[in-house]
Amino acid sequence: MEVNDVVLAVRDITRVYKGDGHEVYALKNVSFDLYKGELIAIMGTSGSGKSTLLNVLAALDEPDKGKIQLYGQNKMEIFKEPNATFYRRENIGFIFQSFNLLKDLTVEENIALPLILKGEEKLQIDEKVDSMLKLIGLTGWRKHRPVQLSGGQQQRVAIGRALITSPPIVLADELTGNLDYNTTNEILHELVEMKRNLNQSMLVVTHDPNVATFADRVLFFHDGQIVDEYKCIGTKDIDNILSKFRLIMEKRI
Ligand SMILES: Nc1ncnc2c1ncn2[C@@H]1O[C@H](COP(=O)(O)OP(=O)(O)OP(=O)(O)O)[C@@H](O)[C@H]1O
Ligand SMILES: [Mg+2]
Repeated sequence: MEVNDVVLAVRDITRVYKGDGHEVYALKNVSFDLYKGELIAIMGTSGSGKSTLLNVLAALDEPDKGKIQLYGQNKMEIFKEPNATFYRRENIGFIFQSFNLLKDLTVEENIALPLILKGEEKLQIDEKVDSMLKLIGLTGWRKHRPVQLSGGQQQRVAIGRALITSPPIVLADELTGNLDYNTTNEILHELVEMKRNLNQSMLVVTHDPNVATFADRVLFFHDGQIVDEYKCIGTKDIDNILSKFRLIMEKRI
């Protein structure tokens, strides 16, 4: 891939949490490029900094050191409001592990929310929400509230909400954490299809090697650092990913 296909350039990002008298280095000099149309899976031990990384990339958290470039431009101003909100609205779709749906809003209202915040016309919003509901298979559930849905259905709403604005970058934390194998695969196929259609770039945190096989590349995290990388080749991926993941889980690296 060409250098000018880089959507996000992450350079030497360090994030230190300071508690009473001690410091935790959640991220230590993390650097990588996210290319246009690329799906990166992030795997790693618990507490290795995966969620911290996604939060930094979504400008929900500010790094202590390092820089982020978007399409080759330095973007450190995104870490201050109101820039952070604008940056997220224009560039990022965020899928939270815990879904973070608004419980008093219906399925269609939850999905429409980012478009409403962007100030789009009602007619346009209705059209987009209709086609998103079709895509995620929830047309019959549009008037339901999150509490009336299964975990898998709530996850679909969260995905619909993250993708409704067709963001160039999608960040997902434990995308399919509580879903069964078939639902996971169904959702991943949908996601990859959308990514292909819109040429989006995606970063997906997962502990599931099956999820990682959908990626172009897997980055392995341990102790705030990228300790290994695997480029998916299509055959034997799951075995290769699993053996690398095991090594890291056993802290043999
Ligand atoms: N708000 C915070 N204040 C202090 N320390 C934090 C905070 N958030 C995270 N940490 C610490 O930073 C490190 C990285 O945390 P992070 O949540 O990014 O890990 P993770 O890889 O997402 O883990 P998991 O797989 O368990 O979700 C951990 O040691 C954690 O305790
Ligand atoms: Mg996490």
